[in-house]
Amino acid sequence: MNEFVVRARKAPTRADDFLAAVGKEGHVEYLAQIFNNTLFVSKGHRENVILTFVLEDSKDYSRAITVRGDQLGSLAGTTEADILDLLAGSLRLAEGLAKEAVIVTPEGIIVQAISFEHLVKERLETQQVYLLDKKGADVRQQDFEENAVFLLTDHIPMPRKTFKSLKRQGVANISLGPIMLHASQCVVLIQNELDRQL
Ligand SMILES: C[S@@+](CC[C@H](N)C(=O)[O-])C[C@H]1O[C@@H](n2cnc3c(N)ncnc32)[C@H](O)[C@@H]1O
Repeated sequence: MNEFVVRARKAPTRADDFLAAVGKEGHVEYLAQIFNNTLFVSKGHRENVILTFVLEDSKDYSRAITVRGDQLGSLAGTTEADILDLLAGSLRLAEGLAKEAVIVTPEGIIVQAISFEHLVKERLETQQVYLLDKKGADVRQQDFEENAVFLLTDHIPMPRKTFKSLKRQGVANISLGPIMLHASQCVVLIQNELDRQL
């Protein structure tokens, strides 16, 4: 299964703060757009994709919220408010989580107290990891391996030092073209490339 990992540096990890961040610096509404565009297609959803949000505005540890397409149960709805409520509910259950501890919510959502860097390091042990970068190599020149991992940010750029560190660790930078897109648009374009490579 391919995975999208979205780093959300200003998204709060406390459920109430998360919900209050709509339209504010954290702009968590972008995450709802990414959620829908990653997991849903017309009249169904993608079973072969994993979506992970790493929320970093935390008083203790970052929270990685992971949704697996093959374990997606029925949802209350898919409006922005429904998706944000779903994510906030998962965060509420994960309040006070110990470092690197994991919980699975009744909806099958996995929440782990883990940093972005540590999570990427884990993926790199067994998977090819790509960083979305407008200046990277053309996506159409890539032959993606199975179970590829794609890293992107929400509206806040990846810090320069992360770029360098990821490169050192073997992460490949890939571009979707010359226009800076929304993350929710990037996930659609990558999945389209993957669909065509099948
Ligand atoms: C809205 S952009 C981030 C915008 C942010 N202001 C910046 O300058 O990085 C969200 C994500 O999409 C990726 N992205 C946007 N356009 C892209 C493109 N043409 N090719 C590859 N990645 C792209 C960015 O690298 C980032 O991870």
